[in-house]
Amino acid sequence: MDKFCIANWKMQLTIKESCQLAKELRERIDFFDQPKVVICPTATALSEVAQVIGNSSIKLGAQNMSWLERGSLTGEVSALTLQEVGAEYVILGHSERRNYLREDSMMIKDKLLLALRLGLRPVLCVGEKEEERLAGATQQVIVEQLESVWPAQQTDKIIVAYEPVWAIGTGQTVSLEQAEEVAALIKNNKGADLPVLYGGSVQPDNIGAFAQSDKLAGVLVGGASLQADSFVKIINAFI
Ligand code: PGA
Repeated sequence: MDKFCIANWKMQLTIKESCQLAKELRERIDFFDQPKVVICPTATALSEVAQVIGNSSIKLGAQNMSWLERGSLTGEVSALTLQEVGAEYVILGHSERRNYLREDSMMIKDKLLLALRLGLRPVLCVGEKEEERLAGATQQVIVEQLESVWPAQQTDKIIVAYEPVWAIGTGQTVSLEQAEEVAALIKNNKGADLPVLYGGSVQPDNIGAFAQSDKLAGVLVGGASLQADSFVKIINAFI
């Protein structure tokens, strides 16, 4: 099973800072085949970061894309241009976009379909809010989030990231058992071979169990991917 370490740099770094971090990572982890390392800089940094990582083993991902290939959509970014700059992966349905930018499942479904049609590998984020977990609704929320966007074809290209909303950037994580339970739920619903990642406050000091799990296919990392040292420690836990 391929394992993935995906860095979500969100809107935390300038173009210069993104290039500097990409350069440090390239110097330190270029030779890795497993885990597969994907970095997702802010959209305006993609092109320059692509130059920095060149043909190394580090792959490029985007944090979002429009649901249309072309159109009158002021401010949106087309998947065609993401591919032109060298992105191979795209994060879709991140909870920050669902919650702050009102992305709904119709938009996410269209994005997923377009990404698959064009050959971008989608990293679909799902996860429950704290109140949903407390109400015992975690499973129902995850299944609904999957069902409402799941396409009929090419599903073998999809990566799912289970990211409980309450664990993102808070220092709290689910236990390994809870993460594996949700991963099993996702696989039972959508296919045993589907890669399911965990995301939410992954750090060098808690990565061990997640990295060694044979039920998880890796991690999606925000804050701890912003320094080469901590991200390299996370990657090393997979080796
Ligand atoms: P975090 O973010 O690692 O900072 O919690 C993860 C994410 O939002 O993808």
